[in-house]
Amino acid sequence: MARHLLQLEGLDAAALTALLDRAEAFLPIAQRTAPPSDALAGRLVANLFYEDSTRTRLSFETAAARLGARSLALQGAGSSSSKGESFLDTALNVEALGVDAIVVRSAIAGGAHLLARHVRCSVINAGDGRHEHPTQGLLDCLTVRRALGSIEGRTVAIVGDIANSRVARSAMHALTMLGATVRLVGPPTLLPRSLGSIVQHPERLSISHDLDAILGDLDVVMMLRVQLERAAGGGVSSDYRIQYGLTRDRANRLPPHCIVMHPGPVNRGVEVDDDVADDARRSQILGQVSNGVAIRMAVLQGCIGS
Ligand code: CP
Repeated sequence: MARHLLQLEGLDAAALTALLDRAEAFLPIAQRTAPPSDALAGRLVANLFYEDSTRTRLSFETAAARLGARSLALQGAGSSSSKGESFLDTALNVEALGVDAIVVRSAIAGGAHLLARHVRCSVINAGDGRHEHPTQGLLDCLTVRRALGSIEGRTVAIVGDIANSRVARSAMHALTMLGATVRLVGPPTLLPRSLGSIVQHPERLSISHDLDAILGDLDVVMMLRVQLERAAGGGVSSDYRIQYGLTRDRANRLPPHCIVMHPGPVNRGVEVDDDVADDARRSQILGQVSNGVAIRMAVLQGCIGS
């Protein structure tokens, strides 16, 4: 694996599958049915988070701990960025502490790429603006593969605020590369204006504005949060739930095997009804979080393992 993980765009099926296989092998450690590893003993991982996070930051910390590495945490609020220190200067100073990897989340699309051009340690993108969230895309793929046994040939609807979603971008790159068909579903204001050559297999990607029309064809329905922090609220009508929410009525019209996913945090009662989010038969929402630890173990091992 390369020294950095900046995006899933450009990774081929073999590279993606290798990461998923490595993560699957780490699952017993991630789930604590096997003892922790010391594969990364002596390594130091800095988590630089300039945007809020619950799952991703704690997941990277957990993954590092399960592999015997130590973690440092720095959040934008409370750092010397409040005194005018730049994003890049902060990263250079963190690297000077002697870290092996910087895991970075920032509001800047391309923020992780910028750091990777200037530091010598590994850089792992934990979400950069509207661009990508590669470890989320990988954990989404692992979740589909574990729940359904395969990704190739599956039909996945990604529903909601696609235009502002780095989760959607990473997921659509990986899922289509691995042979799934992806339907992007939402109101015109929250969808890309054109698909163009957005993924390497554009024949596997399509747009729909009518969730009800496709429910019966789905293997996976991935609901996204409306990202009010990226000014998406202005493009959302007050009847969003009625048109695009995964209500109990809509969930009842999904095929019996269809799984429900959401990257979190969930706006209950907006994009997903409470009892659909909590439906143990379909919902993979907490499973995604558990799978994320194994994915981040695989990525850390690939980037800074010997
Ligand atoms: N899915 C995700 O990125 O969640 P957090 O924002 O809590 O990290």
